[in-house]
Amino acid sequence: MKIAILGMGKIGSGVYEYASANPNIEVKRTLDLRAWMDNMTTDITDIVNDPEIEAVVETMGGLEPARTYALKCLNAGKHYVTANKYLVSEAMTELKAAAKKTGAAFMFSAACGGGIPVLRSLFDQAACDNIIEFGGILNGTTNYMLDRIETDSLTYDAALKEAQALGYAEADPSSDVDGLDAQRKLILGLAVGFGYHVKACDIPVSGIRSILPEDISYFKEKSLSPRLIASAKKTEKGLSADVCVHLFRKGTAQAAIEKNINYAYYVGEKSGLFSFSGQGAGKYPTAANVIADLNRIISGARHMLIDSLTEIGEIISEKHRYYVRVDEKYEDTFKDLAESMVQKEHWMLIVTKPIDHISLVNTMNASGESFFARINE
Ligand code: HSE
Repeated sequence: MKIAILGMGKIGSGVYEYASANPNIEVKRTLDLRAWMDNMTTDITDIVNDPEIEAVVETMGGLEPARTYALKCLNAGKHYVTANKYLVSEAMTELKAAAKKTGAAFMFSAACGGGIPVLRSLFDQAACDNIIEFGGILNGTTNYMLDRIETDSLTYDAALKEAQALGYAEADPSSDVDGLDAQRKLILGLAVGFGYHVKACDIPVSGIRSILPEDISYFKEKSLSPRLIASAKKTEKGLSADVCVHLFRKGTAQAAIEKNINYAYYVGEKSGLFSFSGQGAGKYPTAANVIADLNRIISGARHMLIDSLTEIGEIISEKHRYYVRVDEKYEDTFKDLAESMVQKEHWMLIVTKPIDHISLVNTMNASGESFFARINE
């Protein structure tokens, strides 16, 4: 199968390398902002109008021009494989419709979990069982940072710099530290496993930006490890989904996930828990997931989304206990909510009674510099 690769950065180069060693795949063209290698173009129409190119791989990232390129390629009947979670989380419904119209394949395994084959497995499982939970540690940058801060007492800034130098972070790392990257991956899991297209604005998200050494000391005292978790669950009341830091006891699978490793899980109603851990980012792991999608297309697979994607707007927020750190001057605000409260210097360290994520955020927004994390019971 002759392919083109859009975006010859780290992951695109990995796809190029793997594809060059694969007897079933030939890279005919590549596209980048500047043409710097043979057969490279800066013009998408060179690829769209080339009848020999059957499949297009996109590893550019970002919403535009990725969305326009994807629609052009799919409308021209070219199979489309992307590692771009932002694109898929925002535009999956129109991309799926375009693919369906022309019979082209639309695959995005590498957009969630880097090298972990969780979406492909989820798709296969959802064909026979009702998926009732999906989530996990879906962002390598924040896991790397939390691990380095906790284990090696690095500062937040030093840990972020390391994660950037190692190539884990997004071009704009605020999407990592504020939880948006994990939220986008959660949206993909919800689509593949549950058949729901949920908009980012409907999923509560809180990141790690405001964590302080005071929080880490408290967690260490209590033998808890912080992990940024994206999670979704079908409940009797509806779909619950959110992204925030969770606290796990030492000895749990999540607390044992170190460095940039991802841990993704899903639960089938009858088949139970399945979990995956491995490289959630990086050139070769992500490229391998792209190649696996291409191989599936060669074998005849065409999609990883069910036909009847349902748009879900209402997300319910379940109640949990949280660790909260606020300035002492907000003690009264949290008095009724607190199950226990200790003062450390000018901070109040609180364990809340069960409360939902959105109500907690609303209370905390009026409480200055603060941090919270869900206590995993
Ligand atoms: N910035 C992402 C992460 C890259 O840290 O997980 C892989 O999607």
